Amino acid sequence: MKILVTGGAGYIGSHTTLALLEAGFEVVVLDNLCNSSDAALHAVEAICGKSALMIRGDVRDRALLDRIFQEHAIDAVLHFAGLKAVGESVRKPLEYYDANVGGSLTLCQAMAAAGVFRLVFSSSATVYGEPEQMPISEHFPTGTPTNPYGQSKLIVENVLRDLCAAEPRWSVALLRYFNPIGAHDSGHLGEDPNGIPNNLVPYISQVAVGSLQELSIFGDDYSTADGTGVRDYIHVVDLADGHLKALQSISQRTGLNIWNLGTGDGYSVMQVLRAFEQASGRPVPYRVMPRRAGDVAESWADPSKAARELGWKATRSLQQMMTDTWRWQSNHPKGYQG
Ligand code: NAD
Ligand code: WQD
Repeated sequence: MKILVTGGAGYIGSHTTLALLEAGFEVVVLDNLCNSSDAALHAVEAICGKSALMIRGDVRDRALLDRIFQEHAIDAVLHFAGLKAVGESVRKPLEYYDANVGGSLTLCQAMAAAGVFRLVFSSSATVYGEPEQMPISEHFPTGTPTNPYGQSKLIVENVLRDLCAAEPRWSVALLRYFNPIGAHDSGHLGEDPNGIPNNLVPYISQVAVGSLQELSIFGDDYSTADGTGVRDYIHVVDLADGHLKALQSISQRTGLNIWNLGTGDGYSVMQVLRAFEQASGRPVPYRVMPRRAGDVAESWADPSKAARELGWKATRSLQQMMTDTWRWQSNHPKGYQG
């Protein structure tokens, strides 16, 4: 089977490309490299001895998509391409709606024209907003995301729902990721954010490696066990496996399917920090700061639907996530550039 992976040079896309190649799929990557470098795909090749075909281009380029579907017998699309920085999305809403919503619309139009109806979409737990209860199940209503990034994910989910209702040939998976972290255990494929990281674990690991001075902990007065925010961190390799299971499942059915991809366990900022210090053997200086606007106190998944329907479960512990992050960060203190 041949799979088109948009955004396949990015953090989650590159780990999933590796998993696809290892499982025997042929892979065509479409990425404009706006937040990645093709070094990630070279690392994939070095790890598994197989390579994806890399096409540098934009998912909003309809003519390019038409050409790709003409030249390759694509069976399904994994759609990772998009912009993901929450704070930036507040400052640049048009860019976010254009890339994330516009890109998804153009992709679906090109897919329909080519007769390709299998799609796995990278959604986010952010679509749940601020649920009153934990853990979060797929049957919970979606909320009102507080920023354009979250809105763009919800809009695309709704578009895909309408598409499946209107045209029974579509077979779509909406994968709602919780907090992906970690790196491949080779230590040569990992997360390489541009500039100062927005997310907790890349920030901590850059403090540990000496690129940043100290971590700001955004609030220690939440009603959680130690007062800091609680999240469901999931190893990126477990997440990549979830995509393969979802792909397998949508190949056998049509319609819209929603799966949470999380571990079902919540850890606080403080617990993550301590686990990282243990894995790296380095102290991580921190300072408690005011809460970050838009943050929820806690968020973790009920992953039982994916277990039941996909036979998928995350298996890697928080300690392993920290160990793998540190292996990657200490091997590549400047990411793919060094
Ligand atoms: P990433 O930025 O590392 O990967 C996205 C890739 O898409 C990058 O390689 C980028 O160059 C490419 N890209 C962006 N716009 C493009 C365009 N218009 N045309 C072609 N390529 C384009 O991000 P990631 O963490 O790997 O996330 C992948 C997907 O998962 C995104 O859709 C993101 O919103 C979603 N997601 C991520 C997280 C997370 O915490 N990392 C959580 C939930 C959902
Ligand atoms: C985790 C915890 C912070 C940084 C975001 C997006 C979400 C999804 C995943 C794409 C929180 C605290 C963080 C720091 C801190 N992305 N923190 N100091 O906010 O759960 O989710 O990424 O879809 O949509 O919103 O992840 O890693 O930013 O934060 O104290 O420097 O760490 O307050 O409690 P978040 P995160």
